Amino acid sequence: MKITACRAEDLVLLDEHLPSASADSHHAARFGRQEAGESTYLLAWRDGVPAGHAEVRWNGCAAPEVRRAVGACPEINGLAVAGHLRSQGIGSALIRAAEDLARGRRLPAIGLGVDESNTRAAALYERLGYRPVARYVDRWAYVDRGGLRVECADSCTFLVKELAASGG
Ligand SMILES: CC(C)(COP(=O)(O)OP(=O)(O)OC[C@H]1O[C@@H](n2cnc3c(N)ncnc32)[C@H](O)[C@@H]1OP(=O)(O)O)[C@@H](O)C(=O)NCCC(=O)NCCS
Repeated sequence: MKITACRAEDLVLLDEHLPSASADSHHAARFGRQEAGESTYLLAWRDGVPAGHAEVRWNGCAAPEVRRAVGACPEINGLAVAGHLRSQGIGSALIRAAEDLARGRRLPAIGLGVDESNTRAAALYERLGYRPVARYVDRWAYVDRGGLRVECADSCTFLVKELAASGG
């Protein structure tokens, strides 16, 4: 499993193989934040094609409930794997790569938010050592391909993993 930080030339392949629901590409926005030094946009590759992605947001989760609980703990955001490639370890590999980057920056912990209805993803994160620290409402909006602005408010739990210096 090859995992790399997104490059400008990967955006076309990402939009082709892992398209966004929004009119504006999520991939371009994540790459822009990486270029600005706010995040690292990790891509997992299978046979030369992007199979999944995860954005590590170094400034942490913006939700006030989460910031009260964990401050600017870095957040793994935008984690997804192509539907036909799930349950093959790609999501876990992306999470481990994000943890390694955080260890490389000598950060003590990393977190991620999970929708309260996404029990399978929550079970995976628990297996990987993540523990719940705060409940919050994730508010976000996008413009769909028909030009309609869609506002979302998802009930989520923020989970944190303490990072040992040597991995694990
Ligand atoms: C959650 C997700 C990123 C996990 O990636 P993955 O490559 O399937 O993860 P792994 O193969 O490393 O681990 C799979 C495990 O995760 C769990 N899981 C969570 N959501 C799942 C899904 N939609 N399909 C299959 N397994 C899922 C299962 O318990 C599975 O266990 P198994 O391998 O014993 O069957 C991926 O399933 C996905 O993209 N889901 C849709 C988007 C999403 O929910 N993102 C997470 C937002 S917090």
